Amino acid sequence: MKIAIIVGTRPEIIKMSPIIRILEKENMEFFILHTGQHYSYNMDQVFFEQLKLPQPKYNLEVGSGTHAEETGKMMIGIEKVLLKEKPDIALIEGDTNTVLAGALASVKIGVKIGHVEAGLRSFDRSMPEEINRVVADHISHLLFAPTEKAKENLLNEGIEEEKIFVTGNTIVDAVYQNLELANNSKDYLNVLGIKEENYFLTTVHRQENVDNPKRFKGILDGLKLVQEYYNIPIIYPIHPRSRKMMKEYSLDAGDITLIEPIDYFNFLMLESKAKLIFTDSGGVQEEACILNIPCVTLRYNTERPETLEVGSNVLAGSEPTEILNKAKYMLNKKNSWTNPFGDGRAAERIVDILKKEFG
Ligand code: UD1
Ligand code: UDP
Repeated sequence: MKIAIIVGTRPEIIKMSPIIRILEKENMEFFILHTGQHYSYNMDQVFFEQLKLPQPKYNLEVGSGTHAEETGKMMIGIEKVLLKEKPDIALIEGDTNTVLAGALASVKIGVKIGHVEAGLRSFDRSMPEEINRVVADHISHLLFAPTEKAKENLLNEGIEEEKIFVTGNTIVDAVYQNLELANNSKDYLNVLGIKEENYFLTTVHRQENVDNPKRFKGILDGLKLVQEYYNIPIIYPIHPRSRKMMKEYSLDAGDITLIEPIDYFNFLMLESKAKLIFTDSGGVQEEACILNIPCVTLRYNTERPETLEVGSNVLAGSEPTEILNKAKYMLNKKNSWTNPFGDGRAAERIVDILKKEFG
């Protein structure tokens, strides 16, 4: 069996890493195809180095562009590589343009697709991620759903049950594998001049928030209200998209501490010691839940409803007072829950299923 691992962005590299580690350990035949959707050192290479992943055999260096530009260029490059390499299956992870391009390019030339993190739905088709997920799920051959709820979404859309496997989410594997190492980077708190459980952490980068000046301003104003009320620092490792849009809309972050995007160990450590996390990221909602840190999601919906059900997360949208109120709510309630995303063995299950299917 020969496996193509297709990645392109920060969360895909992190969430594929547990699978890549097993394939390497078991000496299985695979190669990494990087689309180059993310390319800045701190959005890409840093994760290969820190997680000790083999370098991609191919990097298409597609870079940034409109949705069609990114997806189209990726499809052309992916097709060429797959025709040459002839893998038995291409694995894609999540809901980015890389996933959409990987799925479309593979299916058209008869390469089977395994979708890791299949079945998530926000039921909001104005989000590019939702379109990417829906299309990828409907043309995949193996769907690795992280939870029963994700499986239910797929069944509700008429996808055959034989194709769906509930495996847990590989983000749990990644957190468990790296948390101990992450805790060695506690010095980083001193570098930032902050103390354990006495700061908030935030990430905001989704298109529906930062490309909308009203929403992005509302979120920043909400975070400023929180900072005034609690009088503790807010650390914001700012995604390049958000940095660009903040400048374009002349938005002001006030006293929020803006830092460059950081490596995985430092970020995990910052998450695990935060008083509360504000985010619009999918992966960060999951990690907060796994790490037992309360989360306020700066969106009106989530494709991770399990976090709302267990009580680790609430939706606040982008209205300033609502953001403060939701933070108060999360900080005033008892925060203990069971992580619904699995036991840290999702990658193992996925590789076992691949072995059964392809020998
Ligand atoms: C993409 C995903 C999003 C995911 C995010 C993870 C899609 C449609 N969106 O959004 O779901 O949450 O990745 O972080 O695939 N840029 C850089 N350096 C980089 C990458 C991007 O400077 O390495 C800047 C460029 O100005 C670029 C902008 O960020 O135009 C957006 O990048 P893009 O890859 O198009 O989307 P993301 O916002 O990163
Ligand atoms: N992350 C990181 N450094 C940062 C911000 C995030 O390593 O400065 C990690 C985070 O731990 C999580 C992943 O990036 O595993 C989430 O990616 P992102 O928020 O970019 O995308 P999303 O999950 O929203 O698609």
